[in-house]
Amino acid sequence: MAEAFDSVDVIVAKRDGHALSDGQIDWVVDAYTRGAVAEEQMSALAMAILLNGMDRREISRWTAAMIATGDRMDFSGLSRPTSDKHSTGGVGDKVTLPLAPLVASCGVAVPQLSGRGLGHTGGTLDKLESIPGWRCDLSYAEMTAQLESVGAVICAAGSSLAPADKKLYALRDVTGTVEAIPLIASSIMSKKIAEGTGALVLDVKVGSGAFMKDLDSARELARTMVDLGTDAGVTTVALLTDMGTPLGLTAGNAIEVRESLDVLAGGGPADVVELTLALAREMLVAAGRDDVDPADKLADGSAMDVWRAMISAQGGDVDAPLPVATESQVVVASATGVLTRLDALTVGVAAWRLGAGRARKEDPVQAGAGVVLHAKPGDEVAAGQPLMTLLTDDPDRFARAEESLTDAYDITDRSEDAGVASYRRDIILDRFT
Ligand code: URA
Repeated sequence: MAEAFDSVDVIVAKRDGHALSDGQIDWVVDAYTRGAVAEEQMSALAMAILLNGMDRREISRWTAAMIATGDRMDFSGLSRPTSDKHSTGGVGDKVTLPLAPLVASCGVAVPQLSGRGLGHTGGTLDKLESIPGWRCDLSYAEMTAQLESVGAVICAAGSSLAPADKKLYALRDVTGTVEAIPLIASSIMSKKIAEGTGALVLDVKVGSGAFMKDLDSARELARTMVDLGTDAGVTTVALLTDMGTPLGLTAGNAIEVRESLDVLAGGGPADVVELTLALAREMLVAAGRDDVDPADKLADGSAMDVWRAMISAQGGDVDAPLPVATESQVVVASATGVLTRLDALTVGVAAWRLGAGRARKEDPVQAGAGVVLHAKPGDEVAAGQPLMTLLTDDPDRFARAEESLTDAYDITDRSEDAGVASYRRDIILDRFT
């Protein structure tokens, strides 16, 4: 059968700065997924998109074309509204773990499809897999049943959801085109829209530990994704949040589960609690529930009850001890003063090198590995005091992890200090609707 368009015409149109027609977009995305557009042709088109951009209509159409290559889930038959959250990824970002049961405890169902970590950012599934017995591979029917009975599910996205994205993401990864904002936005949003959530809150991270290193590009990504969600009929809100320093006091797998349990028990680090509650409020309002305060559900134990039900429903033993690394090493402060900077990327790379993350997608991760922080920016420290503890099952990994921490932090003499509070960072930097 003759193809409707010619790949080279589509590439040349974008190369020369023209907008692609709806027909061209529908065809090229579908034809690439079924193998009728060659990898080298899609590489050239992805680079032309990176260099020349796409307008709002093109990005919406591209996203819809990616969704059309696979299945779409539909949770509109549930007895309660649905709302989900997506984070662009960061160091120590365990917020999905307390957030999903918290929002469910407020009467809104959370269908959370998550991924594994690659590189220095952790993956929600890797963290939850440190709980003995827990499994992530649920069918659509199991997901629907759990959403009705428990209200929250965190599981792996099946291969039938936006298959165009899987192919295109792998290609972008090896052709220097990951950074194209139209391609990042359509990649994330095609999966979230296909997932069938009624409302969506995006946590767009900005800073050294994030995909977006500067505020302008993070704002552009947030704006683009909110527009895409809105065009697809999903109530979408984005918060821009700081990822210059790690979130909370842990970066790893089991240690992040433990910190999430602290939050669900009504404690936990202030920044994790603040972000969890802010995202929960946005998710509830976006789903039409502004009559419940999620802080009450953390305080009265209801969110913890949903966590236990959610983990048990997926085979996890909620009472089993979490894995603990066999080896540890302490990093001490080099001076006395105020910790004025603690860099997210370097801590993320250290956790990754200790075994918490993977270099290739088929690599295993260590459940107990990671970094525990003993101080955050704005805290006073004394020379020789423990700043962080490195954890791994494999002591050969300490040297490389310590190497990545060479420029991880600054300590300023108290006498030169302008004011300790100025080093405490705001977590929420902007909001888009
Ligand atoms: N996450 C995605 O799912 N896709 C991208 O392109 C970038 C981050």
